[in-house]
Amino acid sequence: MAHIGHEVVGVDVDDEKIEMLARGDAPFFEPRLKELLQSGIESGKLRFTTDISEARGSVVHFVGVGTPQRADGYAADLTYVDAAFEALLPHLSPGDVVAGKSTVPVGTASRLEPAVSATGATLVWNPEFLREGWAVQDTIDPDRLVVGVPPGASGERAADVLRDVYHPPVATGTPFLVTDYATAELVKVAANAFLATKISFINAMAEIAEATGADVTQLADAIGHDVRIGRRFLGAGIGFGGGCLPKDIRAFAARAEELGRGESVAFLREIDAINMRRRDRAVDLVVAALGGSVFKKNVTVLGAAFKPHSDDVRDSPALDVAVRLRGLGAWVTVTDPEAIANAERLHPQLHFVAERDEALRGADATIVVTEWDEYRRELSPQHASSLVATPIIVDGRNCLDASAWRAAGWTYYGMGRP
Ligand code: UGA
Repeated sequence: MAHIGHEVVGVDVDDEKIEMLARGDAPFFEPRLKELLQSGIESGKLRFTTDISEARGSVVHFVGVGTPQRADGYAADLTYVDAAFEALLPHLSPGDVVAGKSTVPVGTASRLEPAVSATGATLVWNPEFLREGWAVQDTIDPDRLVVGVPPGASGERAADVLRDVYHPPVATGTPFLVTDYATAELVKVAANAFLATKISFINAMAEIAEATGADVTQLADAIGHDVRIGRRFLGAGIGFGGGCLPKDIRAFAARAEELGRGESVAFLREIDAINMRRRDRAVDLVVAALGGSVFKKNVTVLGAAFKPHSDDVRDSPALDVAVRLRGLGAWVTVTDPEAIANAERLHPQLHFVAERDEALRGADATIVVTEWDEYRRELSPQHASSLVATPIIVDGRNCLDASAWRAAGWTYYGMGRP
């Protein structure tokens, strides 16, 4: 927002994060974010505070706090959303626009609307579609903008305010869709549910491929040429993780049940189950490759982040596979270009090594679980075989050139590939 010329104040309750941000340091790894933070601060257009009263006077108030999975079930935990609104309400002025960005169960905006309206401000819901690792690009150049507004003149005016706020992408033709609250809330969860379904669909095909000797990567290429299907998000492997897809499909199913429409999205439970089975499959492949037991075997795990270009390890399938192998008695060494600090905080029982080659030294088996370029493109099978004890590789992301690894003497196992 500062980059496109707005005056911005960022507010959070976490002193440590605010201090870091105020110094121009990002509290997590995200390509290009640090440069943008620093240029925003230098320009004087961006500042940070823990004092919510500094929100007073802003024309638009974005609320983008987290909605994690509840500890006691599958539904979303709205504690942070409710707390943020409660803190913001006393500082709103008539005519202000409050734009909810958090991923929330459908019905949340309608529930929050009366309290916002009572201040004379207008509530809109403006879901966020950015991908971690591409967050800056997706924010500056989004593929669509969706704004859920209340009926009537205040809603129309609020939509105009947001159109103005997002003027650069709007000017270059980014679709700007104005809907009601429920539709905007649903667009977000429906998009993530669709993406999760696509991944689990291809992983289900991987399971069938495993039973028949077919190659799921060729299958994905072939069906992906049909533009109605498309090749993206048909990457079979150890499945999806992170802070969004897993909890969003669970929260969506839980909300649908509350609405008496559980059956409509009952398939999401199956999507989740297929996804979790892929982690078992990856572990089973390592166990089988090592002759039926990993006990006291050295296993090197390449990757900890839930996806490349991120240091996020929330619900990371990569880290889950590492933990399961450790649980079976393997000596597990985990490496990752960015996520080691976060992974170590969560799983201090694992052995972490920052340097890839050092992590590979002496491995009885190696598994790639996050498709960083460091493993996918920059690791040659010849070089890797000079480091490991036994050239066994499990490609948990189907990201390696199987024939090149086999030609270099490796025993290669893919996910849903012969
Ligand atoms: C996801 C959505 O893609 C964003 O549009 C959305 O804004 C975001 O959630 C959110 O709700 O905030 P993100 O969690 O960053 O973004 O990650 P994705 O790129 O969707 O990947 C999710 C997981 O699926 C990763 O673990 C990835 O490795 C896995 N994946 C992805 C596959 O297993 N196969 C694929 O073909 C693609």
